[in-house]
Amino acid sequence: MRTYLPSRKVIAVLAAALLATGTAACGNSDTGDNAGKGDDGKITLGFSQVGAESGWRTANTTSIKEAAAEAGIDLKFDDAQQKQENQIKAIRNFIQQKVDVIAFSPVVESGWDTVLKEAKDAKIPVILTDRAVDSADKSLYKTFLGSDFVKEGRLAGEWLVEQKKAASGPVNIVELQGTTGSAPANDRKKGFAEAIAANPNLKIIASQSGDFTRAGGKQVMEQFLKANPKIDVLFAHNDDMGLGALEAITAAGKVPGKDITIITVDAVKDGMQALADGKFNFIAECSPLLGPQLMDLAKKVHNGEEVPARIETEETTFTQEQAKEALPNRKY
Ligand code: AHR
Repeated sequence: MRTYLPSRKVIAVLAAALLATGTAACGNSDTGDNAGKGDDGKITLGFSQVGAESGWRTANTTSIKEAAAEAGIDLKFDDAQQKQENQIKAIRNFIQQKVDVIAFSPVVESGWDTVLKEAKDAKIPVILTDRAVDSADKSLYKTFLGSDFVKEGRLAGEWLVEQKKAASGPVNIVELQGTTGSAPANDRKKGFAEAIAANPNLKIIASQSGDFTRAGGKQVMEQFLKANPKIDVLFAHNDDMGLGALEAITAAGKVPGKDITIITVDAVKDGMQALADGKFNFIAECSPLLGPQLMDLAKKVHNGEEVPARIETEETTFTQEQAKEALPNRKY
C-alpha cells in the first residue's frame, strides 16, 4: 500500500490557512465584529451626517452629539455638506482610523456597496440611521434606524383626500421634493401619490426638488406660481421648504393656508409655529431625536449582540389645533 506524504508546499499552505482561521476567530471572540476599542476603553463611533440643510437636521445632529456624550461614546462627527463623495471619504477615513462602529445617514439611496464592503472587510459594523440605502446585500449593515417615509407621505395624502372629498372639480397640487435620489424624497413622493389616487380630482400639476432647504423651497415655489395660475395645494417634503415657499406665496399676493392649502413633513418648531398660526394646514411628523437609540445600538453591535434589522421611529401627525397644544412642549 502506498502512503501519501504531503509535499512541503502543501504543508505551508495548510499552516497559513490554520493561522488565518485562528486570527479571525480571535478577532470575533474579542469584540464581536470590529477592530477594537480605543486606548481609554471607550467605544469610538464614526458618524457621517448629511449636512445642515434643515431644522430637522440641526435637531438630529444635536440629539446625536448629546446622546454620545451621555453614553460615554467617543464620537467622530463628519458633516458631508449634502455630498455623497464627502460621505464616502469620511467612511474611508473612519475605516483607516479603525473606529469601533460606523453610522451614517446616507444623502442618497444608491452607490454605497463598494464602501460598505470595505467596512465589512475591515470588520467594522455599520448602522444606517435616518435614511436607507438600496443595497441588495443586507449583510453590508447591521440595522437601519429611522422613520417610515412612505407612511409619512401616505398620511399627508390621506389627510388631503379627506379634506377635498367634496371637491367637484380638479384640485391642483404642486410638490416640493426633497434632495433628488434621497430615500425621504423617493418614499414621501410614492406614499403621497398612492394615497391621493383615491380621488381622481387630486392632480399633481408640478413636482420639483427644493433640496430640503428654505432657499430651494422659495425659489421653486416662485417658479411654480409663475407657471401655474391656479395652485390649490402645496405638498412640501419638509417644513423648511414649506417655510421658504411661504415667502413666495405671500409675495405673489396669496394667503398661505387659505388660498393654498399647505402640507409638510417634519414638525420642527418653526413648522409647528406656522401650523399654529394658520399658514400651514397639516404636518406629518418625522422625529429627528434618534441619538439615544443610536448609541444603544452602537454598544450592542460592538458587543456582537443581535439587533433587529429594522427599527422604526414612532411618529404622529398634527392639525392646526393639535400644533397649538403641542408647541409649548416641543423640544426641537
Ligand atoms: O432624512 C430626513 C429629512 O432630511 C427631513 O425630513 C428633512 O428635513 C431633512 O433634511
